[in-house]
Amino acid sequence: MSEKKEIISVLLSEEEVDKRIREMGEQISRDYEGKSLHLVSILRGGVFFSCELAKRITVPVSLDFMSVSSYGMDTKSSGVVKVVKDLDDSIRDKHVLVVEDIIDSGRTLNYLLEVLKGRGPASLKLCTMLDKPDRRVVDVKVDYRGFEIPDKFVVGYGLDYAQKYRNLPYIGVVEFE
Ligand code: IMP
Ligand code: MG
Repeated sequence: MSEKKEIISVLLSEEEVDKRIREMGEQISRDYEGKSLHLVSILRGGVFFSCELAKRITVPVSLDFMSVSSYGMDTKSSGVVKVVKDLDDSIRDKHVLVVEDIIDSGRTLNYLLEVLKGRGPASLKLCTMLDKPDRRVVDVKVDYRGFEIPDKFVVGYGLDYAQKYRNLPYIGVVEFE
């Protein structure tokens, strides 16, 4: 069986991504001055970005992780999301910042933010490294956005194609030979 070979071309270099994360960390540190911040990192893709971002935040930070997946085979029609791994800690009365790798249709985050809102955080905001606004189906308010990108399938910095390429230190576009 012949498999198509993937070619990865750089969309955002390591330097560009690191610079932007530094800026976002500074912005978030200013906005949350005098408060503690509870980062909710979305597994698995959000982890690389969350860690780099956390290192650039100067207010006290705590971290928790959550894993979600779409119900059934067809994400597109159902729009229903399942919590695969829930948070370890309560978010009640905490200033929560959800950290995601990419917002595509917006379905995952739309659902997740509703769930988290119901748990009584002091505040709830959303931070994403990448945003594909052209693909949006459900409206999601993004409070912090690293980059707006075109409607292309990207990998690296936590993002995968068939579980590969998460460890690339840059954002690349996948093309097939
Ligand atoms: P949404 O619910 O459609 O916004 O789905 C967002 C999720 O789809 C992200 O958390 C990623 O796991 C995945 N995803 C969307 N676009 C890409 C991409 O270009 N590369 C890798 N994963 C993607
Ligand atoms: Mg994800």
